[in-house]
Amino acid sequence: MLTDRAPIVSARLGHEDSHTLERYLATGGYEGLRKALSMTPEQVHEEVNAASLLGRGGAGFPAGRKWSMLRKASTTYLVVNGDESEPATFKDHLLIERDPHQIVEGTIITAYAIGAAQAFIFCRGEFALGLERLTQAVNDAYAHGALGPSILGSDFSLDLVVHPGAGAYICGEETALLESLEGKRGFPRIKPPYFPAAIGLYGEPTVVNNVETMSNIPWIVRNGGAAFAALGQGSSTGTRLFALSGHVERPGWYETEMSKTTFRDLIYDPKLGGGVRRGRALKAFIPGGVSAPWFFPEHLDMGLDQDAVGKAGSMLGSGSVVVMDETTCAVRAAWRISRFFHRESCGQCTPCREGAGWIDKILRRIEDGLGREEDLDLLLDACDNIAPGLTWPPRQTTICVLGPSIPSSIVSGIHQFRDEFLLHVKEGGCPMPPDEVRHV
Ligand SMILES: Cc1cc2nc3c(=O)[nH]c(=O)nc-3n(C[C@H](O)[C@H](O)[C@H](O)COP(=O)(O)O)c2cc1C
Ligand code: SF4
Repeated sequence: MLTDRAPIVSARLGHEDSHTLERYLATGGYEGLRKALSMTPEQVHEEVNAASLLGRGGAGFPAGRKWSMLRKASTTYLVVNGDESEPATFKDHLLIERDPHQIVEGTIITAYAIGAAQAFIFCRGEFALGLERLTQAVNDAYAHGALGPSILGSDFSLDLVVHPGAGAYICGEETALLESLEGKRGFPRIKPPYFPAAIGLYGEPTVVNNVETMSNIPWIVRNGGAAFAALGQGSSTGTRLFALSGHVERPGWYETEMSKTTFRDLIYDPKLGGGVRRGRALKAFIPGGVSAPWFFPEHLDMGLDQDAVGKAGSMLGSGSVVVMDETTCAVRAAWRISRFFHRESCGQCTPCREGAGWIDKILRRIEDGLGREEDLDLLLDACDNIAPGLTWPPRQTTICVLGPSIPSSIVSGIHQFRDEFLLHVKEGGCPMPPDEVRHV
């Protein structure tokens, strides 16, 4: 069921000048901050707990609970993750370009709640316009008195630095991001500790939260956590910004109420995706970024709900939904995704570094007509070495979860479309009809 709830994070985006301080102030901007500063940090934290806001960066960990895990120390950092480099994921890019003040305000409120005096926004370096606007927003916030010493006349002070990333997907993984921020190579850190809340930036307790997570904070403080929790269902509260791409009539971003909106609504509703392109049948869709196992037509009536999607064997992950129509070659789709992971593996762990390379090569040779029947088992065996048992959620032999993300598309493809993989072998190449949209 598609509900007509007013958007939260994309409310301002209809305005041409949504990125400017003038528009932000004219549309309720920095009122959440003013209200937060009239509350104690504990009260602000309590509102976010009441909202049950799940992190929007991928893992879906509750933001309020993450803040509670901070080790008590004299220095605490807040780092906002705007790296967003996963293929088909483009919702943070939109927020950075079109509503940077909302991120800045959410960051200031969060820093106040957790007691941080220094915050960073780590923004993907390729977002040239986004970086320009975000930096401008930070400068304007300083000039407005919303950043720097004695914010809006209070006794709270905060400095905020925008840091451009150098374009590596792995730097979105929070511990690699912290390494990169410290000026080192972006290698994920060995766990434990599992959360930077214990040992984070420069060894100090640190909260890392996603851009969209931060963008929800001003609304939650203005309207109260209960109002946010009244949207959605169960643990999937509020709205979420979905990046819809692939073979749909109307690809783009859509903010919808969580849980109550279904995948069918998102893909087929005329106000949202508008249906599969050219009236074709749906073959498969990826519900939460290319790390996620694929879904199929039988999953269409499931709500956009973190728990339901998890129980069905996948994840809402980074909020990107990729639609594949009946002309999509499953081998090629799995290969294109695997090639991305192969190229982006940081190389620290053997199963990820070597496994991704083998999988990339095997899938490529099947697609090119040089595959063997036993390659299917070989692929699954390589996947099993990266994520033993091929279960969901995956077991891990690697330092970070990039490795266990690799099997998702291969296992989904082979389990659901085994015959199509074998046909590639028998026919010496791709059996799908040539079509300009086949090569996703
Ligand atoms: C390989 C990899 C890439 C990631 N990329 C991003 C990213 O671009 N942006 C993001 O917010 N989280 C990303 N994450 C998740 C972060 O590690 C972290 O969980 C998140 O930033 C926490 O924010 P949240 O709790 O607000 O969701 C990535 C994780 C992995 C393993
Ligand atoms: S799993 Fe892959 S990306 Fe993650 S630390 Fe190991 S080698 Fe690097």
